[in-house]
Amino acid sequence: MDNRFLVTTAIPEPGLRLLGAAGHVTVLPDRPDHATLSSLCASGSYDVVLTQLSDTIDAPLLAAARIRGVSNFAVGFDNIDVDTATRLGIAVANTPGVLTDATADIALLLILGTARRVVEADRLVRDGRFHGWEPELLLGRDVSGSVLGLAGFGRIARATARRALGFGMQVVFSPRPPGDRVVGEEELGEFAGRVRQVSWDDLVQRSDFLSLHVPLVEDTVHLVDAAVLARMKPGAILINTARGPIVDEPALVDALRNGVIAGAGLDVFEDEPRLSAGLAELTNTVLLPHLGSATVPVRAEMARLSALNAVAMAEGRTPPHPVNHPLNRSVVHPVDRSGKEVPA
Ligand code: GLV
Repeated sequence: MDNRFLVTTAIPEPGLRLLGAAGHVTVLPDRPDHATLSSLCASGSYDVVLTQLSDTIDAPLLAAARIRGVSNFAVGFDNIDVDTATRLGIAVANTPGVLTDATADIALLLILGTARRVVEADRLVRDGRFHGWEPELLLGRDVSGSVLGLAGFGRIARATARRALGFGMQVVFSPRPPGDRVVGEEELGEFAGRVRQVSWDDLVQRSDFLSLHVPLVEDTVHLVDAAVLARMKPGAILINTARGPIVDEPALVDALRNGVIAGAGLDVFEDEPRLSAGLAELTNTVLLPHLGSATVPVRAEMARLSALNAVAMAEGRTPPHPVNHPLNRSVVHPVDRSGKEVPA
């Protein structure tokens, strides 16, 4: 019960309750800047820090930190330098699985919303510009029969494929662009014979909707840049529910302005919450404030998992959802970075 948790931003229940039952919880009143978070982590006052994807846990912070673990309230962990954490014997954990369907729902919402011009339509009604049914009012495009290209074929991409097939879309995918890994039939499972694997280059050229589902790592930064945008169909729509920096956002604004592609549905931005100049003015976009996992039950599950991860790490156990298991314990044994004994 002497566990000490630092929570950088309040999380929903049952998260705080679970942490409170296992130790002392400090919830910061405001989102900490990097210097504040670094000095809190270095203070020796906390065993585990429960972070948001907006908290940058980089090598300098980790090197000075006296903590056992970082529990990220997200499935993505690109905000954390996991290699450095592993080297230093600091555990990292995340919240996979529970947000798959909710995020795929947002991908479909963006596909439908861009195809059927929902933002423009809503604005027209609210502005009092709806004067009755018109044969050519706000005509969109058909989703059924069009080609959905999935960049990536992990959990969220598959859940998106399942939905898209239900809408009568043709689904093609490239499992891990920019490389071209081959996925065998057995790996396809329920999708065997229903989706087709193509190269990244083919995916770019044949998609009516190109939806991004890759992690943000070194080789996916600006995976979609001006050159890729130029190879897409002029009628194509880009969908991003993954991470903003996967797209070169200023290049996307240019492409949307100049008709290189037809539209974009974005739930994430390159430098969140800032938008690239010109993006907000474009009518051929649907822009959401990173809502992929934002349902009441999903956020409660994320809170529960992140708390269970944090408690396990504080107690020196492997968390239920480790990102860097096994740890390089030799670095810290027998007294770990929080100053506690490491259980044998
Ligand atoms: C949200 O973007 C997450 O990674 O959970």
